[in-house]
Amino acid sequence: MDRTQIVIPAADMERQREYTARLAGVLARPDRAPMALVDTYGCQQNVADSQRIMGMLREMGCGFTEDPGRADIIVINTCAIRENAEKKVFGLLGQLTHAKEKNPDVVICLCGCMAQQEVVARKVKASYRHVDLVFGPQALWRFPELLYETVSGRRRVFSIRDEHGSIAEGMPVVRESAVKAWVSIMYGCNNFCSYCIVPYVRGRERSRESAAILAEVRELVEAGYKEITLLGQNVNSYGKDLAEPMDFADLLSEIDKIPGDYLIRFMTSHPKDAGQKLFDTMARCGHVAKQLHLPVQSGNSRVLKEMNRGYTRETYLEKVRYARSVMPELVLTSDIIVGFPGETEAEAMDTLSLIEEVRYDALFTFIFSPRPGTPASRMPDPASRAEKQVWFERILDAQNRISGELHRGYVGRTVRVLVDGESGDPAWPLSSRTNGGRLVHLKGDTALVGQYAGVKIVDSNTWALFGEV
Ligand code: 5AD
Ligand code: SF4
Repeated sequence: MDRTQIVIPAADMERQREYTARLAGVLARPDRAPMALVDTYGCQQNVADSQRIMGMLREMGCGFTEDPGRADIIVINTCAIRENAEKKVFGLLGQLTHAKEKNPDVVICLCGCMAQQEVVARKVKASYRHVDLVFGPQALWRFPELLYETVSGRRRVFSIRDEHGSIAEGMPVVRESAVKAWVSIMYGCNNFCSYCIVPYVRGRERSRESAAILAEVRELVEAGYKEITLLGQNVNSYGKDLAEPMDFADLLSEIDKIPGDYLIRFMTSHPKDAGQKLFDTMARCGHVAKQLHLPVQSGNSRVLKEMNRGYTRETYLEKVRYARSVMPELVLTSDIIVGFPGETEAEAMDTLSLIEEVRYDALFTFIFSPRPGTPASRMPDPASRAEKQVWFERILDAQNRISGELHRGYVGRTVRVLVDGESGDPAWPLSSRTNGGRLVHLKGDTALVGQYAGVKIVDSNTWALFGEV
C-alpha cells in the first residue's frame, strides 16, 4: 500500500479545522452553549473514536449532556460484532423519534461499524428518517465537514463509501480520565476470521508512524497519565506496512524507554502473530503490564481452521506455556465463541478442556452470531440455539469457578495497584487495578485517585478483589 494515500495530508486536516470553526458559528446560541450527547457501543477502539468525536465537538463549542431531551447533537457510535449490539442500537434509534418530535432541530448522527454496512445504511435511509447523518469509521476524521453539510444544507448525509482506510493525525480528543488513556497504534484488520465483520467495516491494516505514537505516549506521561493502553484490532501486526518496518515488540521496547511512573497495556493480540520475541520483550520491559489478552476462540483445531485463525490448539498452548515461563505472574484472558457453525458438542467440550488446562484469569464468552457478508454466515449451522446455550453455560460455570479460585489466591497478599477512580459504593469507595489488570475494590482515601498504592487483599469473588490501603 502506498503510505502517501493512507496518511491524511496536513492540508486536509486543516480544512476540517476550518469546518469546525464555521460550525462553532452556526451552532452558537445566544442563551447557552450547544449541547452534545455521545453514546458509545462496543470495543475500546470505539471508546477511543468517541473521545475524538467529543474532541471535535468541544472545539465546535459544545458542552456535553447525557439527556437526549437537552441535546442539540446526538452521536451514536455503534458496534457490529454481534446481532445483539445492532438490535440495541435500532431500539435506541426508535426511541429517538420522540426526541426529534420534541425538538425538530436536533441533529442525530449514526457512526461506527454498524453505519459502515450498506444494509444498515439502507435500512436507516428508508425507515429511520429522523437520522440526519450516517458515516463509517473510515470517515471519522471528516466529521466536521459532514456535520457542516448536514446542518447548513438541512439535508440528510450518508458517507459510507467502502474505503481502504486512512490515518488521521492531530485530531482533538477529550480523555475520559486523567489517569488512563487510549492510544491507537494501528487501524483495520487483514485477518478475515471467517465469523468476523471487522475487516469489512474497518478497512485494511495500517500502522501509525512510531514517532507519532512515541510523541503521544510521552505527552501523556508528562501530563501525569499512569496507564496507557495501546489499541489495535491485532497489535501484533503493527508495523508490517511501514516504510521502515518495525514490529510490535520493538515498538514496546521504544515506548518503555520513556522515563516516568506509568504502565503500558495493549489489546488485542492475535495468537498467530504473538511469539517469543513479544513475550521476552514484555518480560524485560518494566513499564509493560504483565497482562495478555490472547483470544483463543476455540479449543478445537478443526474449528480453529474453519474460523481461519491460523493456529492450532497445540501451537496456542505452546505459546501460553512459553509466555508463562518468562512471566510467571502473567494475567491471561481470552475470548471464546461457542456454537460456531458445524461445531459439535465434543468440539465445544474441547474448548472447555482448554480452559481447564490454561486456567485463564477471566474470559469473554460469546455465542456465535452470524454476520451478513462473512463466510461463516453461509456455513450450515445444525446445532440449535438451546444446545449452544447449554455448552455456553458449562463453559461459563467452569470459568467462574476458575476465576474464583485464582482470585482467592490473592487474599492475604499485598499487591501494588493503580487507584483509577471512585466507585460510588460507600463500602468500597475506590476502584483500582493490579499490574495484571485485575479489578480491586478498595477502602481508602479518595485523594489516592491517580496514585499507586500498596494494598492488602482481604476478600475476593468471581469478578474482583477487595482490598485495604
Ligand atoms: N459471533 C460471536 N462472537 C464474535 N466475535 C467476533 N465476531 C463474532 C461473531 N460473529 C467475538 C470474538 C472476538 C470478540 C471481540 O468478539 O470472540 O474476539
Ligand atoms: Fe475479527 Fe479476526 Fe480481525 Fe480480530 S483478528 S478483528 S476476530 S478478523
